Amino acid sequence: MDETVRAQYEAYPYPPRDPAEEATRLVTGSPSHVLEIDHYVFAGRRDFARPFRALFAGGGTGDGTVMLAQQLADRGTPAEIVHLDLSAAAQAIAAARIARRGLAVRFVQGSLLALDRLGLGGFDYIDCCGVLHHLDDPLAGFRALERALAPDGGMGVMVYAPLGRTGVYPLQALLRALAGEAPLADRLALARRLLPQLPATNWFKRNPHLHDHLSLGDAGLFDLLLHSRDRAFSIAELARLVADAGLRIAGLCNAIRYEPAAYLDDRTLLARLDGLVPLDRAAFAELLAGNIKTHTFYVVKAANPADTVARPDGTDAIPVLRDGDGPALALRARTNRIVHIGYDGLDLRLPLPALAPEILARIDGTRTLGAIHRALAEAVRPAPEWAAFKAEFDRLYLTLHGLGCLFIRHAA
Ligand SMILES: C[S@@+](CC[C@H](N)C(=O)[O-])C[C@H]1O[C@@H](n2cnc3c(N)ncnc32)[C@H](O)[C@@H]1O
Repeated sequence: MDETVRAQYEAYPYPPRDPAEEATRLVTGSPSHVLEIDHYVFAGRRDFARPFRALFAGGGTGDGTVMLAQQLADRGTPAEIVHLDLSAAAQAIAAARIARRGLAVRFVQGSLLALDRLGLGGFDYIDCCGVLHHLDDPLAGFRALERALAPDGGMGVMVYAPLGRTGVYPLQALLRALAGEAPLADRLALARRLLPQLPATNWFKRNPHLHDHLSLGDAGLFDLLLHSRDRAFSIAELARLVADAGLRIAGLCNAIRYEPAAYLDDRTLLARLDGLVPLDRAAFAELLAGNIKTHTFYVVKAANPADTVARPDGTDAIPVLRDGDGPALALRARTNRIVHIGYDGLDLRLPLPALAPEILARIDGTRTLGAIHRALAEAVRPAPEWAAFKAEFDRLYLTLHGLGCLFIRHAA
């Protein structure tokens, strides 16, 4: 079966990428953004002037590898990055992208299940994005990765989630019945014939939020609808899998989607959830929202005694915006203090606190919360006390961190 999976990604490397585009844009995302790694794995305290070893397990055509290699190069980090994949074709694309940028990555062709034998050493960070759900035994995969992790290291993972993929698995079964073991190109052709014929009641047809087959060409169609092996994990299943692998979840990306209060405003209902631990709240939110297609999250070793997640506490915490710049966001927040965000059919409207524009205008990725408070107290009348400022910042943080835009680091 691994051979079948390999053959698919040799024929249709995923996601399809043109190395020439490296000249015009850097693809960024989650997991493996350097701010997220620092935030969830190193409590915002990783000194990136020190050597850093990262493994991309099933790195594919290189989105994550290119992003982190570039971000570490920009920081001057003495980094050693290994890209491991079954598919030589996918690796050739990733290698061409890395070469275009003049970056250095080591490419190894093979299975993450063979990590113990590959002798690649231990890693501070491992990315495994969109891979574990294609393994015959995802737990064996997770365990192999756990063994390759340094004791204080962490992993960024993405796996499919069941409810947002409603309609995918029945359609995969239909296509298996129609196309069986036909050559890969014939299976694609059959899928293209079937798609426009789906009756209005078909669940894939009724789920308009799946679009890889439309936006990513043959590779996208194959990956979504013709994959020989894929499965999805609910948060509850994931929690068990992670624990069985000797790991613990440090944080879920896009945390707002895992917060029941993002969907409900009935206080009686919300009060019933008060005693739940965060993962049970997240499991509830997943069932409630019904539209989550993937789970992206960070894990660390269960035996790691440290609290690895950065908190927005204390005057020395430095808030850092992911891509955008604070003054631009501040300008928008001045005219409209409601953030609108669309998630696969769900429109959330999230109010920002009154001081949001003043705080955002002063977030530059280097100022501490203490410095932001001091600067703000000189400019705003009446000048807010620290406690009032912190309460406003916490509300802002809950929203923007929940959306994956704002992280915390500490000065090295
Ligand atoms: C859906 S793609 C994801 C690629 C990349 N991680 C990303 O997110 O853009 C899955 C990749 O995992 C690779 N893969 C699947 N099983 C693997 C295994 N056992 N060991 C290493 N790579 C594997 C495939 O060859 C493919 O390139």
